[in-house]
Amino acid sequence: MKEKIKEKIVLALDVEKIDEAKDFVDKLSPYTGTFKVGLQLFTGYGLEIINYILEKNSNFFLDVKLHDIPNTVKKAAENIIQNGASFFNVHCQGGVEMMKAAREGADKKADELNKKHPVILGVTMLTSISQEIMNNEFKIDKNVSNYAIELAKLAKKAGLDGVVASADEVAEIKKRLGDDFKVLCPGIRPLWSLKDDQKRIATPNEAIKRGADYIVIGRAVTKAENPVLAMEKIYEEIENGGVI
Ligand code: C5P
Repeated sequence: MKEKIKEKIVLALDVEKIDEAKDFVDKLSPYTGTFKVGLQLFTGYGLEIINYILEKNSNFFLDVKLHDIPNTVKKAAENIIQNGASFFNVHCQGGVEMMKAAREGADKKADELNKKHPVILGVTMLTSISQEIMNNEFKIDKNVSNYAIELAKLAKKAGLDGVVASADEVAEIKKRLGDDFKVLCPGIRPLWSLKDDQKRIATPNEAIKRGADYIVIGRAVTKAENPVLAMEKIYEEIENGGVI
């Protein structure tokens, strides 16, 4: 049971200082299947944190949301795999050809290195893009959720493994794109934690029950007075929730 929970947990290392990030990796690697390194940490410290995560035998997810011409994305995907990522993501709005290039580059490099093919996830619409922005700035005259589903379909067509989506959208995505199409859910808040700036939130159990393959845990743990205890409470909630 604990191993199954661990596989689903992606810890968002959204911190400013490398020492803080390393400290979280030290404390939380027994509970975390995958550490997510985003733009802030990656542009600040490059490979240092990634190598640290790999030394602990944990997976890392490079959350840099690639969006460029296909050839550039393909080469970047090769480098991402060379550097040991098990997960990374690309913007669906880069188009099918670009997403296919990511798949091709990543899988080719994984084969060369005798590694498992990585999980590549598509980012449909950033949650910071509202209906108004979509209509008024981008001049896309569509409902934002429907548009996100259309983009998810493109991700599937391009051979990606799944998408990043809020817990509100998981059930619909699974229904439309199949159970095998993976969904990673951010915006996860156990009942006892603060919402912060997240609007559409779900508890770990709600997200898993709706079909989330992975749940992103960030400030609920990293800002807790005792992160290990917070993580243990999350495990307990999931174990008692009967969703796995
Ligand atoms: O601290 P919190 O749990 O809110 O962190 C959520 C993480 O998930 C952050 O790294 C954030 O960038 C990421 N994320 C998100 N919403 C999305 C996509 C990613 O919150 N739609």
